[in-house]
Order: sequence, then structure tokens, then C-alpha cells
Amino acid sequence: MKSALCSRFFILLPWILIVIIMLDVDPRRPAPQLTSRPYFSPHTVGCGGSRVPLRRSSLGRDAAEKRNESRPPLQPEPRLPTIYAITPTYSRPVQKAELTRLANTFRQVAQLHWILVEDRATRSELVSSFLERAGLPNTHLHVPTPRRYKRPWLPRATEQRNAGLAWLRQRHQHQSAQPGVLFFADDDNTYSLELFQEMRTTRKVSVWPVGLVGGRRYERPLVKNGKVVGWYTGWREDRPFAIDMAGFAVSLQVILSNPKAVFKRRGSQPGMQESDFLKQITTVEELEPKASNCTKVLVWHTRTEKVNLANEPKYHLDTVNIEV
Ligand code: UGA
Ligand code: MN
Repeated sequence: MKSALCSRFFILLPWILIVIIMLDVDPRRPAPQLTSRPYFSPHTVGCGGSRVPLRRSSLGRDAAEKRNESRPPLQPEPRLPTIYAITPTYSRPVQKAELTRLANTFRQVAQLHWILVEDRATRSELVSSFLERAGLPNTHLHVPTPRRYKRPWLPRATEQRNAGLAWLRQRHQHQSAQPGVLFFADDDNTYSLELFQEMRTTRKVSVWPVGLVGGRRYERPLVKNGKVVGWYTGWREDRPFAIDMAGFAVSLQVILSNPKAVFKRRGSQPGMQESDFLKQITTVEELEPKASNCTKVLVWHTRTEKVNLANEPKYHLDTVNIEV
């Protein structure tokens, strides 16, 4: 009798264990990744992918997760506005290093679409293969700056930013625009992750301080009662919008409802491109101050030192051709 009971117990034991394991599995929890992939194909990540939106604090997320344990979510979360970052870029020894820093930042931002515009007649192999491995939803454009405009005293990247604007308008021409925000992300600046949280809520045109620009530690819009009333700057205070390209964002709706707003070559001077563009789409009174009423620096106008390659011609070339 005792041995019959014992053998039944051992027959049932594996089944009991299986049932216990099945009950313990949380179907809401995604399966762990089998391989660690520091770089993903953009096609597997898609728009937004599984990255955590930066708008929530980890505290808020914990609370949300705890809530989910007791009852299922009632409705899906509203879609985050897409951030479109237009980056003009040109071939030089530090290009891949700059793009690597930028991609490392952007990869941590949810729902970001990178519009990379090369200053070239064709797409380069370097940028094409870089983007393939960058793990970011992206659009790769190219347009060369005409030779006559390649002068140190003339504005840079006019044609490239316009190509990015044209792509955005073309893409949204037949559909009512999804919520979106555009900003111009030069390839050599330094962007904090908080900046993306701030710009995501742009209704029309938002502004914030920029560090290390205009010959000063920072420039910033001066804010009174929640409105921009002037500019703290070290250079050309007479500019209608005394702000660097890194200091503002524009809603997609504003870009689409002002189809003629572009960067202009004719009559434009360095440092005036921002004002020339913003004048076409907004007024100073309308600007939305971000970063605690423009009292925090969340982006820096860093510039990379020109690299010293003086020893390159003195030595034999390597036997392999390595991309840098
Ligand atoms: C400042 C502003 O921050 C820029 O936004 C503005 O375009 C520029 O002045 C101007 O004078 O037009 P700065 O640091 O002097 O920036 O300019 P760069 O960083 O050298 O160039 C701005 C962007 O244009 C970068 O993303 C760069 O890769 C790109 N660029 C520059 C080109 O695509 N082609 C070029 O020949 C030079
Ligand atoms: Mn720069």
C-alpha cells in the first residue's frame, strides 16, 4: 500500500512541478533576449521599439508597473510625438566619431527619427554602413553645397537642412500629420537626454539656453511671466532671434502649415540663419520657454578640434585599409 502511494506520488510530482512553473510565468513580461546586441538593425527595432520613453521617471515607471500587477491597463498609452532630428554632416577625419557620439545619445531616446543629410553628391559608403548598424529609425539624404557657397564666412548646411524639411513635408503631404517635433541637431554638439523630454511637448516653437556659444558660457532667452522678452547673448544682440540652431524646436504641424519656410542663401549671413528661418514661422511673443523658464543648459555648442594628421604622409601606409 505504502509503496503504491509512493510510486503514484513520484509519477505525479513532475506534473505538479510543471503546473507550478506555468503558473509562475508572467505573460506580460517580455522574454529575455538570448543574445546581447549592442547594435540592432533598424528593421528589427522599428519606430520606438522597446526602448523606454524618457518622459517617465523610473519612480513613475515602478508605480505604473506595480499598478499593472493588480489590474490590467485600461487603454493603450497615447502615442509619443515623434522627434525628427535633422543632422547635416560632411566628410572629414572626425565624421564617424561625431556620428557615433550622436547615435549613442539618440539611441536612448524613444520615438526619434534621425534625418541625416550628407553634404555630398552621392551617399557615402561610410555613412550608409554606419546607419545600417546604428539601430535607429532613419532617413539618409544627400545634397552637395554648391562650390561657391563653401566659404568660411558663409552660412553652413543651408541646402542640407532644406533637404530635410522637404523630406518631412513630402512624407506627410497625404496624411493628417501625426504629432511630431523637429529640431536641428548638428553633428558636433552635445545633447543631454533631458533636452528631448523638454522639446517633446513643443506646441508651436519652443526655445531653451545653449551652452558654450556666442563667445560666452551660454546664451539664453530672457523670460518674464512665462514669455520670452529678450536675449542674453554675447554677439549681435540685434538679431531678431538671438539663438543658436541648437536652441529651438518646431512642431511638425507648424512646418507643414508653413510650406514655404526654408533656409535662405540670398542675403543670409552666418549667425542669421536661425533668425531668418524663425521669422517665417513665429514671433518672439509666441515662443514657448523650456528648461525651467530657460534657466538650464541642456545642450552645448561643442566644436571638435581639428585633428592632427601631420604624421600620415611621413610613414608607409598600412597594408590594410581601415575605416576611421
Ligand atoms: C554654427 C551653428 O551652430 C550652426 O548651426 C550653423 O549652421 C553654423 O554656425 C553656420 O555658420 O552656418 P558651427 O559650429 O560654426 O555652427 O558650424 P559647424 O558645426 O561646422 O556646421 C554646422 C553643421 O553643418 C554641422 O552638422 C556640420 O556637419 C554641417 N556642415 C558643415 C556641412 O554639412 N557642410 C559643411 O561644409 C560644413
Ligand atoms: Mn558646430
